[in-house]
Amino acid sequence: MQDDKSKTTDFGFKEIPADEKVKAVANVFHSVAAKYDIMNDLMSGGIHRLWKRHTVSQSGVRAGHCVLDIAGGTGDLTLKFSRLVGSEGQVILADINDSMLKIGRDKLANLGVVGNVKCVQANAEALPFPDDTFDCITIAFGLRNVTDKSKALASMYRVLKPGGRLLVLEFSKPESEMLSQVYDQYSFRLLPAMGKLIANDSESYRYLAESIRMHPDQETLKGMMDEVGFERTSYQNLTGGIVALHKGFKF
Ligand SMILES: C[S@@+](CC[C@H](N)C(=O)[O-])C[C@H]1O[C@@H](n2cnc3c(N)ncnc32)[C@H](O)[C@@H]1O
Repeated sequence: MQDDKSKTTDFGFKEIPADEKVKAVANVFHSVAAKYDIMNDLMSGGIHRLWKRHTVSQSGVRAGHCVLDIAGGTGDLTLKFSRLVGSEGQVILADINDSMLKIGRDKLANLGVVGNVKCVQANAEALPFPDDTFDCITIAFGLRNVTDKSKALASMYRVLKPGGRLLVLEFSKPESEMLSQVYDQYSFRLLPAMGKLIANDSESYRYLAESIRMHPDQETLKGMMDEVGFERTSYQNLTGGIVALHKGFKF
């Protein structure tokens, strides 16, 4: 058995000591934070907005609910949930990275969202909340950056209320070989070039493309959710499987 010091993990296509991944990922998001929202729109042609809207439509969230948006970054989902839960509810925008959280907090304040949103710096692997707290937990484009994904899923399961649901929105495996090839060209050639041009940072966007390839595919992620206790797990492919929305319940 490996001890913690000798364990390794993926960082994009590189194999690095597991205890160095948090710092490596932090550097990526400190670097991209200021340009994150504009790059998201450019890279996806605005489609990330549709994926996020669909996620909210699948959340079952209503007035008075308590929602955790973990790895919430600049707060796109938090913003939508804050409108749904109203003044009786609460949304926690949580992220490990203070640069991303700061952009999120400022954006929400500029949009007049203050009362029912709280920002918390937290690692998805060790959520600092009591058991059975949230009606719904979302993690959008965050799980692939987490070192120990099963530990993070177990942590989410713990803080979810019985009857609550987890939604994982993440890049996944395209359904067709042709789409896969086009997408590879796009992500390994165009993405780093766009990153260089707009954010002067091709490395972070190369990591983005590589981390997508290293992320578990649809069935594997579903199995990981089953393993930590989620029930009625399922997924929907969006945009031909470029992205998948996984859903699981705690009963
Ligand atoms: C690609 S951004 C997604 C932001 C937002 N959810 C969205 O969909 O626009 C990934 C986020 O995951 C956060 N993150 C990475 N590792 C994390 C961890 N272990 N715990 C919590 N957040 C993490 C990063 O700081 C970053 O803000």
